[in-house]
Amino acid sequence: MTVVGGGASGQFVLLATNSSHLDPKHWPQPEAFRPERFLLESGGRTGPADPPAFAPFGVGPRMCVGNKQAVIAAKSALVQLYRRFTFSLHARQRLPLRTRTAMTHAPRDGVWVSVHAR
Ligand code: HEM
Repeated sequence: MTVVGGGASGQFVLLATNSSHLDPKHWPQPEAFRPERFLLESGGRTGPADPPAFAPFGVGPRMCVGNKQAVIAAKSALVQLYRRFTFSLHARQRLPLRTRTAMTHAPRDGVWVSVHAR
């Protein structure tokens, strides 16, 4: 995992999670949308051999205390949405997707999708 800055007492440490999450050494075809890579039953894995290489919630004693709640909320929301609608990429969406990195890594200008009721 890439660490910017020092680790000595009183110094600011920034985990460059964006670079480790896109590292093909840990994540084959990191740009590909392959959510099954996280499913153990699909032969995937929940994290690479080096756990800090997957750290959307940070690592160690200061790891996000809301990480479980955040994942459950995201799963619940997605289940509700996918039960009612289907989603596909809209022709207006240009690829590759332009992203921006701040507190989180996200699409820079949103994502154009077509939504249809099931
Ligand atoms: C997708 C949603 C979320 C993401 C990506 C996220 C991510 C993070 C990250 C990267 C950190 C810094 C960890 C570090 O310093 O190493 C953090 C800290 C923290 N998060 Fe979250 N978080 C999320 C949701 C939540 C929720 C829902 C809560 C509360 C219910 C929460 C509460 C906290 C708190 C209190 C800290 C500070 C922990 C500490 O410094 O000891 N977060 N979060």
